[in-house]
Formats: sequence, C-alpha cells, structure tokens
Amino acid sequence: MWARELVDSGYRVFGIDISEAMIDLSRKKVPEAEFRVGSLFEVEIPGCQAVTAVSEVLNYLFDAENEDLGLSRLFRRVHDALVPGGVFVFDVLGPGQVSPGDKTRGFGVGEDWAVLSEREEDVERVTMERRIVSFRKVGEHYRRDDEVHRVRLYDPSDLSAELERAGFRVQTMRSYADFPLAEGHAAFVARKPL
Ligand SMILES: C[S@@+](CC[C@H](N)C(=O)[O-])C[C@H]1O[C@@H](n2cnc3c(N)ncnc32)[C@H](O)[C@@H]1O
Repeated sequence: MWARELVDSGYRVFGIDISEAMIDLSRKKVPEAEFRVGSLFEVEIPGCQAVTAVSEVLNYLFDAENEDLGLSRLFRRVHDALVPGGVFVFDVLGPGQVSPGDKTRGFGVGEDWAVLSEREEDVERVTMERRIVSFRKVGEHYRRDDEVHRVRLYDPSDLSAELERAGFRVQTMRSYADFPLAEGHAAFVARKPL
C-alpha cells in the first residue's frame, strides 16, 4: 500500500478519499498516517513535498466540482501547496478505449470471486460509464455488489498544457518505475520549479 511505503520511508502522510469505506481500510492498514473523508477538490492541501493521486483518482465524477470546473483550479492549489522542487504525481485514463456506440465487456475470475464489467464512452461529453458487478464468496454463499463509475477522460497533452499553465514542469510516463500502467492510461510527474 502506497501510504505504508511512504510512512516506512520516513514521510508524514495525509490522505484523503471521498469514500468512507476506503478511509476506514486505510486507517486500519496505516494507523501512523492521518486520513480524512472528503473531496480532493475541497480539502485544504497542507504545505508538502509531494502530492500523489494514484490510479485514476482525478478521473472520477463523484464530486460535482470536478464536473463543473475541470482540473485547472486543482492544479493551481497543488502548485501553491508544494515546496519549490516538490512534485505532483498522478495518472489518468484517456479517451478512445471503447469505439463510439459500442460497449466493451470484460471479466476476471479467481478461486472465490468474479468481477464482470461493461464500459461505454460518451464521445461528446468525453466521459465513460463503467458498470461493475462483483461476486465474493462469504461462507457458503456469494455476496454480490453493483457499482457504476462515471469518469471524465483526459487527453494527456491537454493536461500537460494545463499543468504548465499552473507553473509546473511536466514529464509523462507509461509506467510507475517497474509497474506498467493499464492500457489507455498516462502518468504525470509535475515538478514545481526551484
Ligand atoms: C481506483 S481508486 C484508487 C484508490 C487508491 N489510490 C489506490 O491506489 O488503491 C480511486 C479512488 O479515488 C477516490 N475519489 C474519487 N473522486 C474523489 C474525490 N473527488 N475526492 C477524493 N477521493 C476521490 C475514490 O473514492 C477511490 O477510492
């Protein structure tokens, strides 16, 4: 877990997630860190050396702020919070994963679980809807969960330009060190100049 790696490397960690369940889990796994339930579009970002948002965090449209304002205000807030030389590291999913009018279906199975998914893109709004149905064995029976994710899709070159406008120097990547990103994703290291 990323927060665990950071704490073990000597960093003080402050984590935020809009999902209460995710924060409960994080508090259990990394009690040394501080976690809060809330939106990254509203939280006051404390002065820091690095801000990270790993695994599509910025794509989600769970908070209407993201729907209305896009990412430029967030980029400026992160830039203000970082020390000179500090970094903002994140990844996003881009458009064009599903052909217009199509639905892409997928599944994954393990010994005692199965996950089914269906994805559809809205070309005009540059968004994707992802329906996920998961089954997990609990005792004799399987527990079913249904989720619908709505995400905005970002063109990496548009985001690089937006980051530069906020004052960052930008590098894009297809992997986090040895961990390749899933198809359609781009990662960014945006550095606040010294
Ligand atoms: C794919 S998960 C990645 C979670 C974690 N970073 C990891 O790598 O395990 C995306 C997370 O972003 C959170 N999220 C989405 N929109 C958010 C927002 N506006 N503010 C805070 N968290 C948000 C979701 O609740 C979800 O836990």
